[in-house]
Amino acid sequence: MKRIVLSMLAAVCMLAFTACGSADSSSSAPKESQTEAVSQTETALQQSQAEQPSDPSEAEVSEDKQSAPDKTEEQSQAEADSESKASDTIVIYFSATGTTKGVAERIAAVTGADIFELIPAEPYSDADLDWHDDKSRTTIEMNDPAVRPAIANDTVDLSGYTTVYIGYPIWWGDAPRIMSTFVEAHSFDGKTVIPFCTSGSSPIGRSGENLASQAGSGSWLAGGRLDAGISESDIQAWINEMK
Ligand SMILES: Cc1cc2nc3c(=O)[nH]c(=O)nc-3n(C[C@H](O)[C@H](O)[C@H](O)COP(=O)(O)O)c2cc1C
Repeated sequence: MKRIVLSMLAAVCMLAFTACGSADSSSSAPKESQTEAVSQTETALQQSQAEQPSDPSEAEVSEDKQSAPDKTEEQSQAEADSESKASDTIVIYFSATGTTKGVAERIAAVTGADIFELIPAEPYSDADLDWHDDKSRTTIEMNDPAVRPAIANDTVDLSGYTTVYIGYPIWWGDAPRIMSTFVEAHSFDGKTVIPFCTSGSSPIGRSGENLASQAGSGSWLAGGRLDAGISESDIQAWINEMK
């Protein structure tokens, strides 16, 4: 559109100049009609530029700015307060293949708890997890109650928590030895501790009691085995039963 307007204006100028040139081609000073034509061209050009539609994306942005008023100080402060409010509950878990992790995340969602995953210093490979192999790492570890696999990230500070959920998969009817490493490294004084596990089918058995005795502190509840696909409402029901 701009190009068409400019072409037309250029043509008007050419005609004006030609007309003036034929009247007096020897004169170098612009005649009045020439000046008028140039001035009209400039005016039309300015009008044409003014009429150009603005960049639509800019228009949208400015509309957005208008429709999204700035937050009030009170709103910003309320958000900051809710983000900084610490939970008194934490879910700590180890999961080799992701099943316990899923359940732990749902417990944290239902309770509004913080959540912390224990990562082994030496990750478990598929071969390590092969319980059919008498010589696999897990078979060797679970055959020796004194083994304490190192934790890569045990930076968790339990001091601000009054309730601690501790989750793990059942290995050979017990908690993996890495859970013993964890509970022996922390004090659970004054805390309620709730063990939970996932498994192929085995119940939680004595695994929670074994961890309680290794920890030597805390008020340990029986806890329980939770199905891999347990819903949040069933988790809430399980929690209610323990109260
Ligand atoms: C080494 C090993 C031993 C296991 N022993 C048992 C067991 O004794 N009873 C059982 O029901 N499931 C057993 N399982 C299955 C796990 O408990 C089950 O798959 C669990 O949900 C895995 O959790 P994760 O994905 O969080 O690691 C065993 C798995 C492994 C790798």
